[in-house]
Amino acid sequence: MQTPIVDFVRKYADKNGVRAHMPGHKGKSLLGAEKGDITEISGADVLYNASGIIKQSQDNASKLFGTYATFYSTEGSSLCIKAMLYLVAKGKRNPTVLALRNAHKTFVYGCALLGIEPVWVYPKNSEHLCECNVSADDIDEALKSLDKKPFAVYVTSPDYLGNMLDIQSIATVCDRYGVPLIVDNAHGAYLAFIKENEHPIKKGAAMCCDSAHKTLSALTGGAYLHIGDKGKVFADGAKNALSLFASTSPSYLILQSLDLVNADVEKNLKRFEEVKERVKKIRINLENNGFVCVGNEPFKLTLDLVKSNVLSENLAYVLDKNGIECEMLDNEYAVFMFSTASKDSDFKCVQNALLSVQKTERKPILAFEFNKIERVMSVREAIMSESERVSVSASLNRVCASPTVSCPPAVPIVVSGERITQQSIALFARYGIDEIEVVKE
Ligand SMILES: Cc1ncc(COP(=O)(O)O)c(C=O)c1O
Repeated sequence: MQTPIVDFVRKYADKNGVRAHMPGHKGKSLLGAEKGDITEISGADVLYNASGIIKQSQDNASKLFGTYATFYSTEGSSLCIKAMLYLVAKGKRNPTVLALRNAHKTFVYGCALLGIEPVWVYPKNSEHLCECNVSADDIDEALKSLDKKPFAVYVTSPDYLGNMLDIQSIATVCDRYGVPLIVDNAHGAYLAFIKENEHPIKKGAAMCCDSAHKTLSALTGGAYLHIGDKGKVFADGAKNALSLFASTSPSYLILQSLDLVNADVEKNLKRFEEVKERVKKIRINLENNGFVCVGNEPFKLTLDLVKSNVLSENLAYVLDKNGIECEMLDNEYAVFMFSTASKDSDFKCVQNALLSVQKTERKPILAFEFNKIERVMSVREAIMSESERVSVSASLNRVCASPTVSCPPAVPIVVSGERITQQSIALFARYGIDEIEVVKE
């Protein structure tokens, strides 16, 4: 696999010429990475109008992922989500998008910026805010019930806990209604490289975003906007859509790392299957020892701490003692993420640490309930309103201004424009939120 961006930057840096251009560090080192941190100089191409080395590299990525077209983002999936929303809403009056309620807050911000109204599909049997366990039939029912066809269906899969939806069946339903399916696949870039290829584009999505930095070896911020055959109509507008929300100074460190990820993936293709098998083995071992794991995402290990009879403080102690930092640990769940860069010893270390944790009988916690909330004003109107910060205890019946999230996983409990209910207040307490931004009365 060729790495045109990296080759260009290395050659340029080795020349040690006069850098009479941005950035201000001129390649001199404070941090250590400055030599390779250039800008869109002659020959370096232009990210959102790529026709040279960046275009070549994006085309390499497109081939690897099997997409119709792939575009790089140096500002995460967050940028790609806004760009995808713009692409489906462009030229439409009063656009609406049918979205699963576990959408990341970036989706809400994108809706506010573009004047899109989300029409939410709520979870039926979910146990956590991050989860929105719906079937293709649920999407079918939701689409059937709407008077006005939405401009897209937006789902998150995998979710933060590692639950994957049946994208193929959902895509079939969307096709039947003639509505493009957009997938927030921020956590699933690697799915294209396991044997079954579970990547949303392969499964029939029109577009998706992947954070290359979450599960592949890219620097933080590296992401892809992928377009599938069913989203061909969006391909021409994609560069414009990304540049509408992006900085005009893309990071060439991130671009180089995206370029290198192509070569790394191609070289280590076999490793993806190995990681999947190793995580599967840990999961089986833990389950044989009374742990309860959730989710079906191959590279993620998520423990239900309550059902596993593990106190989070006991787990935190063991992880700390073994030098393990997990992705997320709260009172209810622990999430561990692996990748092809995980060392063989990492898998053993996590498994042994988990098996050594002291068990303590835990009482079931209150069932998770998440019902439809009254919308008082549009997302955009609420975000643009005068607002004030109040304590959660004083927020009953007030209208939410900023989407209220606990971070991670940044999934809003109440979305801007919705009226705060007693149930929302219970959820704020459950996710450790004390204050909330509400619209001024
Ligand atoms: C489900 C989901 N979508 C989108 C994002 C945003 O991704 P990024 O950090 O690459 O902008 C995140 C980030 O954590 C996420 O968990």
